[in-house]
Amino acid sequence: MRHTESVRELREGSRIAKVMDEDALDKIAEDQGYARSIQASKRVRWDIDDDVIRGRQFDTTHKFLPDGLSLADGFTTLSADEKRFVSQIQGRTYANIFGLVERFINAKVLELSHDHWFGNQIALEALVRFSDEELKHQALFRRIDAMVGDVLPHGYRFDVDPDGVAQVVLGKSTWAVLALTLDIELFTQLHYRQSIDPDTELSALFKDVFLYHWKEESQHALLDELEWVRHDAGLTSEKRDRAVDEFIALVGAVDGILQAQAKADARYFAATCGRAVDDDEAQAIAAAFLKAYRWQYIHSGAQHPRFGKVLSSLITEKQGQRIQAALATLQ
Ligand SMILES: [Fe+2]
Ligand SMILES: [Fe+2]
Repeated sequence: MRHTESVRELREGSRIAKVMDEDALDKIAEDQGYARSIQASKRVRWDIDDDVIRGRQFDTTHKFLPDGLSLADGFTTLSADEKRFVSQIQGRTYANIFGLVERFINAKVLELSHDHWFGNQIALEALVRFSDEELKHQALFRRIDAMVGDVLPHGYRFDVDPDGVAQVVLGKSTWAVLALTLDIELFTQLHYRQSIDPDTELSALFKDVFLYHWKEESQHALLDELEWVRHDAGLTSEKRDRAVDEFIALVGAVDGILQAQAKADARYFAATCGRAVDDDEAQAIAAAFLKAYRWQYIHSGAQHPRFGKVLSSLITEKQGQRIQAALATLQ
């Protein structure tokens, strides 16, 4: 009897030791992730004027977004010159959408940094750098918006208030905001890959915007993942289930912004393209803008393999189906 008990104790002891080992290994991997992001952040650090803009201006003989992002082929009634104009309008909207999402991303990162104030100083430094970079990116995109405004016709509008959107987004749970944030920060990687396609008509300055933004966003995606998994570990299954619905609601809210901007950009195109556009064509152009924006800002991130991998490791199959069903309505 005593022998049986001691074997059981040994087995339980070794099981506890194994669990402790796994926890310790997770902790080491987590610390290495934060440290790696700091090293990379220091290595790639860039300056808006010295590295990205370098005294250049936009030239309207070039496309601003590559065809793979602007989905130029979908604008079936337009000439090649008009498709180039569409890519320039989308380029200005690209700058504005990033300026918008980086407002709430930065606020969430600063809020999450609170968890590390008195603990892991490596994690704290990684998040402080993340925040600093997002402030710089917002400044870059404000510059790009103004510089594109200098070379395109008057009348462009982007009427969404970044602070108002941030208030709504930050009203949702951290889990949901981090899911949306990882989606966004992963798609900048795909956008960069699209922009390096050999395309002699693409603006060298806009190419550099993609390149330099991607360099710092790669670290952000790593940190989003670390913070999302860390935060997820403290949630009950009920809270996580509600957060899945909140994530779906946030994607719907992003889509609402994209729908309004697609209409605004199509109106701007029709008013400034120099020829008459009838109602049917105007509707087709607005639909093509919306398809491109949904691809750029929702699906290209949601379909990213890393996003799918992290998301599916945190949720049940049924929750995954709920998300897929919601995304499928945005086509
Ligand atoms: Fe950014
Ligand atoms: Fe970022």
